[in-house]
Amino acid sequence: MTSAIEIRDLIVSVDASEILHGVSLAVAPGKVHAVMGPNGSGKSTLLNAIAGNPMYQTTSGQVLLGDEDITFSPPDVRAKAGLFLAFQYPEAVPGVPVIQFLRQAMSARRGTDLSVLEVRIAMMEWMQRLGMDPSFAERYLNEGFSGGEKKRNEVLQMAMLDPQVAMLDETDSGLDVDAMKVVARGIEALRGSNADLAILIVTHYQRILDILEPDRVHVLVNGRVVDEGDASLARKLERKGYEQWRS
Ligand SMILES: Nc1ncnc2c1ncn2[C@@H]1O[C@H](COP(=O)(O)OP(=O)(O)O)[C@@H](O)[C@H]1O
Ligand SMILES: [Mg+2]
Repeated sequence: MTSAIEIRDLIVSVDASEILHGVSLAVAPGKVHAVMGPNGSGKSTLLNAIAGNPMYQTTSGQVLLGDEDITFSPPDVRAKAGLFLAFQYPEAVPGVPVIQFLRQAMSARRGTDLSVLEVRIAMMEWMQRLGMDPSFAERYLNEGFSGGEKKRNEVLQMAMLDPQVAMLDETDSGLDVDAMKVVARGIEALRGSNADLAILIVTHYQRILDILEPDRVHVLVNGRVVDEGDASLARKLERKGYEQWRS
């Protein structure tokens, strides 16, 4: 079966210094894979390179979204094709309300102009599910958002864009256990509504993986995948850390 997303021997540089030295992985439709590793190992670089963030230069290797080679596609083309990345530290967009931002993003993804009313209706169910106040739709994107609001907003964006491949970069970091459960259940609800949704999640914590139950765990250290396994590998890492791979 064709993978939802496949990365082949990817080499990525930032400012002319090589960060990823040949990373390969493939996520089948409907599967959840976790990427774990110490700080600075290249996890965010990997997700940004897959999303086509221009700050990250792919010098060799391939990124396939389904059958499509998107290695050198611009980020908006990737997003329209169903690839989603929730940013770790989304920047504030002054003067743009959440609903306006979502209307633009959803219209681009669907290739048709949605009305404010259509977007509002689509948002309401999910905002309720994520425990967000309806007034949130009118707030300016990321301006004065608390940590929990930013994370919920990421999951809201993901739900609204209905991706084929969702990448989550530490969406659970800095959340209390209740907020983490809300976020995790939101992700589960989205999987329930799209059985083919493939998820690549970067996390440091077992607690969200207890809910999402990853099919595969990839360990990234110094820009290389040093180990792979099933969900038990994440539990082992929680106990033992990354010491065995540090040089
Ligand atoms: N935008 C950037 N500019 C300069 N260096 C970067 C940038 N993004 C990542 N790096 C460098 O790449 C390495 C990997 O970073 P990152 O991918 O953020 O790791 P992780 O997400 O695993 O903590 C680090 O040494 C970091 O300093
Ligand atoms: Mg990171």
